[in-house]
This record gives sequence, C-alpha cells and structure tokens, in this order.
Amino acid sequence: MAFIFPRLINISTLALAVYLYLFTNVEAIPVDNSQPKKKNIIFLVGDGFGPSGVNLARNYRQVEQGLSRRDLLNLDGHLIGTQRHSSNSSYITDSAAAGTALATGKKTVNGYISVDPEQNPVGAIGEALKLQGYAVGLVVTTSVGDATPSVWAAHSRTRRDQDLIVEQLVGEIHPLGHIPDLILGGGRDWFIGVNDGGKRPDNRSLIEEVQNNGTWTYVGDREGFDSYDEGRNATLPFLGLFAEDNFPYRIDRDDAEYPSLVEQTQFALNALSNYTKDSDQGFFLMVESSRIDHAGHENCVQSHALEALEYDEVFGLVKNFTRETDVDTVVIATADHETGGLVLNLQGPRDFDPVFNATHSGEYLANEIANYEGDDLLGFIRTTVIEEGLGLTNYTEEEVQRLADYVDNNSEGILYTTALGVAIANLTSSRARVHWGSLQHTSVDVDLYGFSNADYLTQKLLNVRTGLAGVHENTDFSVFIKSITDIDLDEVTELIADVPTRY
Ligand SMILES: *[C@@H]1O[C@H](CO)[C@@H](O)[C@H](O)[C@H]1NC(C)=O
Ligand SMILES: *[C@@H]1O[C@H](CO)[C@@H](O)[C@H](O)[C@H]1NC(C)=O
Ligand SMILES: *[C@@H]1O[C@H](CO)[C@@H](O)[C@H](O)[C@H]1NC(C)=O
Ligand SMILES: *[C@@H]1O[C@H](CO)[C@@H](O)[C@H](O)[C@H]1NC(C)=O
Ligand SMILES: *[C@@H]1O[C@H](CO)[C@@H](O)[C@H](O)[C@H]1NC(C)=O
Ligand SMILES: *[C@@H]1O[C@H](CO)[C@@H](O)[C@H](O)[C@H]1NC(C)=O
Ligand SMILES: *[C@@H]1O[C@H](CO)[C@@H](O)[C@H](O)[C@H]1NC(C)=O
Ligand SMILES: *[C@@H]1O[C@H](CO)[C@@H](O)[C@H](O)[C@H]1NC(C)=O
Ligand SMILES: *[C@@H]1O[C@H](CO)[C@@H](O)[C@H](O)[C@H]1NC(C)=O
Ligand SMILES: [Zn+2]
Repeated sequence: MAFIFPRLINISTLALAVYLYLFTNVEAIPVDNSQPKKKNIIFLVGDGFGPSGVNLARNYRQVEQGLSRRDLLNLDGHLIGTQRHSSNSSYITDSAAAGTALATGKKTVNGYISVDPEQNPVGAIGEALKLQGYAVGLVVTTSVGDATPSVWAAHSRTRRDQDLIVEQLVGEIHPLGHIPDLILGGGRDWFIGVNDGGKRPDNRSLIEEVQNNGTWTYVGDREGFDSYDEGRNATLPFLGLFAEDNFPYRIDRDDAEYPSLVEQTQFALNALSNYTKDSDQGFFLMVESSRIDHAGHENCVQSHALEALEYDEVFGLVKNFTRETDVDTVVIATADHETGGLVLNLQGPRDFDPVFNATHSGEYLANEIANYEGDDLLGFIRTTVIEEGLGLTNYTEEEVQRLADYVDNNSEGILYTTALGVAIANLTSSRARVHWGSLQHTSVDVDLYGFSNADYLTQKLLNVRTGLAGVHENTDFSVFIKSITDIDLDEVTELIADVPTRY
C-alpha cells in the first residue's frame, strides 16, 4: 500500500500537470482579442459520418492503394474531441435538429430548420457572421436547400419546405437579404416549377428570376463551372446547381458531368478569398459531404467508403489552403450524427475484395432493375447487377430470387427501390463482413477535428470549456465561434423575427 499510494499520486499529479499545461495554462496566456483580426472560418460536415466510418475509410484506402497500416487519413492527425448530438425530441437526431444545434447553439425538434421547439426562428452563425462582414459560402453534394446547408442561413418549421428555404437562401424573403454569397451543390428542382418538370408547386423559376433580376450569377452544368477558372474568376453572389436533386454517389458519378466535392471546395476557396481579399473580414465556408448519410441509410459499404474518402480529400485540400493563406484560418470538421449503425467485422485486407469489385452503388443498381424493360429479369439480375455491377462471381440462385422478389409483378412494375437497393448492397457487405445495425441514424457520438494556422486560434480551439477539445454537445460549436468573434446570436434572433417559416 505504502508503495502504491504515492505512485498513484504521482500519476495523477502528472496528469493534472499535463492538463493544466495543455488547457488551463493556455487560458492564462493573455490572448489579445480586442483588435478584430481578419479570419476565415471553415466548417466541414460529413453527414452521417460516425467513428466506424472513419475506420472503414482508413482501411479501405490503405488496402486499395497498398499503403502501410500507418498511413493515415488527412483527418486523423487532427482529432480533438467528440460530440453528443441528441435533439429536443429524441436521443437520435436528424440532420435538421443537429444542424440547428450546430448553427444556432439551440437544441430543437427533429425536422426543424433553425427554429426553436416552439417554432420561433433563432439566429444562426451564418447570419451573425454575415452581419460581422464575413462572406458566406455553402457547398454540398445534395440539394442546397436540404437541412445541413440551410440551417446556417434559413428558417423553416419543416425541412421538407425546400421551396420556401431556397427563397430565403437567395435572399428574396430573408429579412437580412441573401446570407450566402456562394452556393454550390444540387437541388436545382427546388428552383424550377412543377409545370417545367421541377418541384416548386408555385411554378416559379427562381433560376430565371435571379438572373433576370441581376442578383445572382448562375451556372447549371460542368461546362459553366469550368469557365470560372476554378472560382478565381467568379462574380459573387454565385449560384451553381449541378444536379436536379442529389449528386450521384462518387462510385456512380460521371466526372465529365459533375464537379467533385473537392473541385467545388477549391472553387469556393478561390472565389471567397478573392471576394474578401480587400475586406476587413474573411469568409465562413460550410462544406458538407452529404451522401455519407445516404450510403448509411442504404447500408452500402462501397458508396460509404468512397463518399468518406472524398470528404477526407476535402479536408486535405482545406489543410493545404490553410497552410498557404495569409489570413488567420480555423478549420473544424465533424458529423451531425452517425447513420446505419456500421459494424466492422473485417478481419484482413482480403475482406475488401468484394468491396473493391463493386463498380456501382446499391441505389444505382436498384434503379437499373427499376428501369429494366426486358423479359429476362433473373438473367438481368445475374449478369448486369450481380456480376457486372457488384463484380461478384460466387452467388446463389436464392440471392438472385431475393432481389427479384422486390419487383412486384402483380401491380404494374411497382418497385420497392429503396429496400431493393439495401438488399443489393447487402450482397457486398455480407461478403466483406461489414454489418449494419440500422437503416436510420444512431445516437453514437461523433468525432470532432480541428486546427488553425494561427496560434491564438489554436489555443481557443483547444480550450476544453469554450473551445472544442474533449467531450462536447453539438451546441458548443456556437460557444467556440463566440469565443473567436464578436457575433451576437440573440441580436440576430431579433433581426430575423419576421422571416416566414412556412407558406
Ligand atoms: C424540449 O424543448 C422544450 C421547450 O423548450 C423544453 O421544455 C424541453 O425540456 C426540451 N426537452 C429536451 C429533452 O430537451
Ligand atoms: C425578382 O424581382 C421581382 C421584381 O422586383 C421580384 O418581385 C421578385 O421577388 C424577384 N425574384 C427573386 C427570386 O428575388
Ligand atoms: C403549376 O402547374 C401545374 C401543372 O401545369 C398546375 O397543375 C398547377 O395548378 C400550377 N400551380 C399554380 C400555383 O399555378
Ligand atoms: C472569366 O469569366 C468570363 C465570363 O464571366 C470569361 O469570359 C473569361 O474567359 C473568364 N476568364 C478566365 C481566365 O477564366
Ligand atoms: C482574383 O480575381 C482576379 C481577376 O479575375 C484574378 O486575376 C486573381 O488571380 C484572383 N485572385 C485570387 C486570389 O484568386
Ligand atoms: C495537398 O498538398 C499535398 C502536398 O503538397 C498534395 O500531395 C495533395 O495532393 C494536396 N491535396 C489536395 C486535395 O489538393
Ligand atoms: C472479384 O473479382 C475477381 C475478378 O473478376 C474475381 O476473381 C473474384 O472472385 C471477385 N470476388 C468476389 C468476392 O466475387
Ligand atoms: C462460394 O460461396 C459459398 C457459400 O456462399 C462458399 O461456401 C464458398 O466457399 C464460396 N466459394 C468461393 C470460391 O469463394
Ligand atoms: C442480408 O444478408 C443476410 C446474409 O446473407 C441475409 O440473411 C439477410 O436477409 C439480408 N438482408 C437483406 C435486406 O437482404
Ligand atoms: Zn440521414
């Protein structure tokens, strides 16, 4: 006892000393925040990207590229904490409530876009930074009016009203005008009337309106995107919509048709840097790798790994940008929640063979079946779907029949496409010993990453109370932003009180 006890004291004393050195001491060093300094704030979200997803992406990359087990992701060197994300209505959040907590510091009900549980609009960081002189950019691979991008700049009682949300994003019905200066992603249909094949019940063409009104520069395809010299030449406000709804998964995507998330991010960094080069403030850029979440919902391991690696590549790009820019820049990367309850039982590199063999997602192949008009469905499933699409050689007739059963022959081609996509993806996952515990979101904590090129911002970031080191609630992101800027979210809440949150 006499020997053990002092040792315990020594260890805990050492731990305390390290703690004090790392965190408390940092606070004791006076950091001059009185002079407003020009800053860029970059926030990266992997929607539905949980801790096991990080692990999967890391292993996938190592095996696929023949790298050492020590060759890590761009993200890996920058883990600073974890984040809890239960919403006002459930331990399991959706992207709307999680995004609202990140963007406003307030927990809300699943499905709500930056309104509180009583449905009152609450000020968001995008709006607050805009009032401080920051330029604002939103970059995604889903619809730009979807939950994660919209929470920073719009308010709606339901995430489903994307027609209302995009009117706010372009500034038409937002009390502060347009908050984003740059919007890149999908969701073009929410800017086009149903009479023109879009999704707007009011039949308006917001795309034509903003162009005719001279309020936004618009591009709708890859060729247009490419004509702006990677964004250096773009005139803001700038709207780029490259898909009717979601971008295809990276595994299915035609690069000649869609700019990648990395290219879109490069565009945004160039355009926003140029736009703010003579300003007192820099920019706030939110980039979401949106479809990691969808791959989780569809239990699709091949899509999940590639979406996650695209996100990691964006992180690498942002690292390079931050190293090279003269402007003090802080980068935070996290997820809003985990999706799919991903469990990794892979035992070695060979378990990746079936994953690498897949050339398409379950979603894409389900649509192939949905669009099949021939009279040999079983043959089509064998060759086009399983052998070519999934690259699987050893499969059973039971598996072929299992997929065919999702096609309801009795009711004129009604297809259960989502469930069929899950069943197709399952052929790959089960062979790779990858298991999924859910088709929905889960309540598992997600990782927090961050770094800066400025010492004072690094110190603020690593503060366990007002920064993001350690274990946090998703509402703490706003606490951190308050610690490095002069934003006043309550003031914003007053200024936006009249925003229409429903039709
Ligand atoms: C949800 O919000 C209501 C109203 O603000 C509040 O009374 C309640 O405690 C909240 N519930 C949770 C679980 O946060
Ligand atoms: C375009 O301008 C017209 C006329 O001022 C206005 O009514 C309309 O709301 C504007 N559209 C958008 C999308 O801002
Ligand atoms: C929009 O167009 C559709 C199809 O042409 C029509 O059914 C609908 O009534 C129109 N809605 C409005 C608000 O004009
Ligand atoms: C810049 O943009 C204009 C169109 O706005 C285009 O005509 C021109 O070629 C572009 N220049 C470069 C260098 O990309
Ligand atoms: C800003 O735009 C100008 C004119 O298009 C271009 O020549 C310059 O390279 C851009 N600067 C940056 C930092 O992107
Ligand atoms: C970042 O820079 C490194 C080293 O210069 C380079 O290898 C890498 O490709 C860059 N990443 C991106 C995404 O451009
Ligand atoms: C993956 O493809 C290779 C080459 O076609 C094939 O030999 C192998 O059996 C496939 N793996 C699985 C699990 O089907
Ligand atoms: C083919 O699959 C069966 C059962 O699914 C398995 O027992 C057999 O080992 C597999 N053969 C090859 C060559 O992978
Ligand atoms: C997934 O694969 C397992 C093992 O082959 C099977 O038992 C299960 O029914 C499959 N699930 C779906 C949705 O196809
Ligand atoms: Zn989801």
